Amino acid sequence: MRIVVYDQGGARVEIGDVAGQTLMSAIRDKGLNITAQCGGCAACATCHVYVDDEWTSKLKPVGDVEDAMLDIAEERQENSRLSCQVKRTEDLDGLTVRLAPGSG
Ligand code: FES
Repeated sequence: MRIVVYDQGGARVEIGDVAGQTLMSAIRDKGLNITAQCGGCAACATCHVYVDDEWTSKLKPVGDVEDAMLDIAEERQENSRLSCQVKRTEDLDGLTVRLAPGSG
């Protein structure tokens, strides 16, 4: 499985052979600048990403807890997600996201 991430500065990083169980852990384990302060408990919103349009409908819907946390995230948009709440699955090969302001 492969993930494409644009960091806060716009640099493109491709993560192949992702080891983590969530999008957040994959980004963090690659050494990118993501705070993820709560460690993946949907309690901090510092793992906020913007999902590229072609992928938004392929992700599971935002849950109630994630939705509440996104409300306190900096610059929430329609395509905002908490990366710790996005589980890696094979059908997400090529998933492309951008690290949001306040995530690093
Ligand atoms: Fe804290 Fe995702 S790591 S909400």
